[in-house]
Amino acid sequence: EEKALAGKSLNNAKSTINAILEEKKVLLSKVESNSKDEFDFSMPGRASSIGSIHPITKIMNKSIEIFESLKFECVEGPEVEDEFHNFSALNIPESHPARAMHDTFYLDNNFLLRTHTSSVQVRTMDQQDPPIRIIAPGKVYRKDSDITHTPMFHQIEGLYIDKEVSFSNLKSIINIFLKSFFEQDDLKIRFRPSYFPFTEPSAEVDIEYVDSKGNKNWLEILGCGMVHPNVLDMAKIDSSIYSGYAFGLGVERLAMLKLGITDLRLFYENDLRFLKQFQRM
Ligand code: PHE
Repeated sequence: EEKALAGKSLNNAKSTINAILEEKKVLLSKVESNSKDEFDFSMPGRASSIGSIHPITKIMNKSIEIFESLKFECVEGPEVEDEFHNFSALNIPESHPARAMHDTFYLDNNFLLRTHTSSVQVRTMDQQDPPIRIIAPGKVYRKDSDITHTPMFHQIEGLYIDKEVSFSNLKSIINIFLKSFFEQDDLKIRFRPSYFPFTEPSAEVDIEYVDSKGNKNWLEILGCGMVHPNVLDMAKIDSSIYSGYAFGLGVERLAMLKLGITDLRLFYENDLRFLKQFQRM
């Protein structure tokens, strides 16, 4: 008995739905004939692929993670800087030739795009009293472009200030970081004497790698040294009590070695065929 009733209302529903479908079909065919380019509703949709994190960001995150495990606090500073924080407070006076070395992008009113993350050293020393133990990752800018340089690149600055900080502390932290980053205990690391106005003594660190032809080479990946007493004094930190080390890591250089990339510019051409290769990194 119930079947007859249910059947009737089902049939009603069916004809209502059919009527609506018919109405829509007529409407759509009108739209179709009105529009110039035809749209085929039976075409399959476009599959969307899932994006992924940029390889440079992954390298940055991995580095930050290692430094945080070594009890460095991660801080940030502005990319638009003033000459004081980028140069003067780092013992680079106006007439100093090191300013010219930096190929700076200048903006109006003594502002500039920071040429290194060392400016964040200055900002941190303004805000914190020692002991200070920070890293400052971020973008930096220089007028430079070839296979190992891009006008924008990334650095990770490190600064440690306390009583009795020595060069051997610096060497050990760099060694620990690099061996952990490259997951290679027998990594060949070379400290080469260098010069920076804001550190004394200063060094650059190279890593040995094997190039595509099988030859051994060194690639420079960071600058470092003991914080110059003038820099501490300018930041009102008593250099007779405190000492410190600083380093500035080139993130793209780390990425080149880790991923076997020979042309840095590839990272910034936004070619998905290139970037997708590092999706599962
Ligand atoms: N700021 C330097 C550069 O960009 C690197 C550096 C950082 C050197 C800290 C010494 C200490 O080349």
